[in-house]
Amino acid sequence: MNEVTVFIMGKGYRVPAGLTIMKAMEYAGYRLTRGCGCRGGYCGACATVYRLKGDYRLYADLACQTPVQDGMYIAQLPFTPAERPPYALQDLAPEGQTLLALFPELARCVACNTCTKACPQKLEVMDAVQAALRGDIRQVAELTFDCVSCGLCTMRCPAEISHHHVWQLARRLNGAYLTPRAKHVQERVQEIAARKFAVELDAFMSMDRDVLVAAYKAREIEA
Ligand code: FES
Repeated sequence: MNEVTVFIMGKGYRVPAGLTIMKAMEYAGYRLTRGCGCRGGYCGACATVYRLKGDYRLYADLACQTPVQDGMYIAQLPFTPAERPPYALQDLAPEGQTLLALFPELARCVACNTCTKACPQKLEVMDAVQAALRGDIRQVAELTFDCVSCGLCTMRCPAEISHHHVWQLARRLNGAYLTPRAKHVQERVQEIAARKFAVELDAFMSMDRDVLVAAYKAREIEA
């Protein structure tokens, strides 16, 4: 078997080449109770930092998406602490100053682009910071749609911006106030509230789990 040597939390292991960092950790005997979620690059729970042999740079990536390399020094981060001010969405307006008022550290951005380089999703993070500074909530929401909130940009930011919390607020404001309502969804919600589908819904609610799963699998799917 083609193997490589990796160092997990300072201890050396021989693991099969081609495994992701996450699978290599499990192969080495680690049971992941933190820092592991969807395993598919979506949830952002598996933020990991590493160095490569002979390379001074500190790299950061998602453990479930990054293959091991020979001589890799790995440390997993169970959580990225970041400040998030309390707010109630219904009390906020989707206006230019809203993001900056809650996250004044945005104004400390020195445009170093470290956040963009740190992003495992290859998002244009610094462009999103600039959009937030301009108060362009819609653009922030669009640029950060694929953010998984891993916090790797936040850890590297010299201005100490809590990026993922800013993006989450921008997407909430965009979804709640700026995005046009889908007419067909509103109509369907009204139909459900008026119990138009009461017979079908009541039948689903009374099914046992296996029957419900089978009915779900056999459902008609729109082309
Ligand atoms: S486990 Fe969800 S992104 Fe890696």
